[in-house]
Amino acid sequence: MATLLLHLADFDEASWAARFAAALPGHRVVRRGDDFAPADIDYIFTWKPVPDAFEGLSNLKAVLSLGAGVDALLQHPRLPANVPIVRFIDADLMQRMSDYVVSQVTMHQRLFTRFQRDQRARRWVQLYPPPSWDTSVGIMGMGVLGQDAVKHLKVFGYPLRSWSRTPKAIQGVAGFAGPDEFEAFLAGTDILVNLPPATPETQGILNYETFAKLRRTGLDGGPVLINAARGGHQRDADITRALQDGTLGAASLDVFEVEPLPQDSPLWALDNCYITPHIAAASSEETGVAYFSKAIRDFEAGLPLPNVVDVARGY
Ligand code: NDP
Ligand code: OXD
Repeated sequence: MATLLLHLADFDEASWAARFAAALPGHRVVRRGDDFAPADIDYIFTWKPVPDAFEGLSNLKAVLSLGAGVDALLQHPRLPANVPIVRFIDADLMQRMSDYVVSQVTMHQRLFTRFQRDQRARRWVQLYPPPSWDTSVGIMGMGVLGQDAVKHLKVFGYPLRSWSRTPKAIQGVAGFAGPDEFEAFLAGTDILVNLPPATPETQGILNYETFAKLRRTGLDGGPVLINAARGGHQRDADITRALQDGTLGAASLDVFEVEPLPQDSPLWALDNCYITPHIAAASSEETGVAYFSKAIRDFEAGLPLPNVVDVARGY
């Protein structure tokens, strides 16, 4: 009988375990405190594993990541080598992320910060927001989530541009790729949406120098940053500075260099900074269990595992 071990932080592990047990008849589902032999574990389903999480798991067949982003897992000092890592990605997660991106993009294109300030000051000024077709949205990372966001944003008529590691040809999207085309990508972008994985190449890429290269003619108040990927992509201090000196007009941040965002972060107090606590697209228990249970059943029937991470590439 194959055994699945759950090892979760931030999520209700007991609830996920009960659901997995119901979805996987003929399998044993265990949690860390349970009585089991580590060598009997076939699969580990995990989010933010502690340092000894993989101790004794000598017969592991797959590591199943609750999250779409596997940066923390890949940095785990004792991640077993040569065991495939399956990351979570499904329609529910894609929709949640696109909901977040669309809501923030439309909010900023409609000059929300400006009108909030006017409202607080009881000031009636008829400043007309630019039309969507004149507000360009540049998306960094054209993977599963970036492409879904593009699909949703197209409906609104925004001129779209993308930046990825390798070139992409997506209808209606001006594609840029690699470090050599980064500046050209930024130069035509009013609203920058960040959706790449966290890798050494993308570490700290959202910095003051980057913000200074964004287009400054599109939005009243200045260009906008939306980061829904990882805190390691950004320099919080640079964002604070840019939001204060007008290099950025506004920012929507779902992730931070340190999470939870420390109480003394100046970002909390900025009225042009929209903070959410890493909830842009949480994995759904219902669809997540369905996805991973199917992956396990298919794998045991001889089919390949889905969405296996390319460890050498880092995502
Ligand atoms: P994918 O792996 O499907 O896509 C990643 C994209 O980023 C690809 O287009 C890839 O390029 C591009 N990329 C990678 N490295 C670079 C680089 N050095 N320079 C330029 N582009 C690069 O990832 P997903 O779309 O599934 O997810 C993206 C990230 O979103 C996750 O890694 C995670 O960190 C984050 N996330 C955040 C959530 C939240 O709630 N805040 C929820 C879920 C995910 P190429 O196409 O050439 O390979
Ligand atoms: C993820 C996340 O990577 O929620 O899925 O951050």
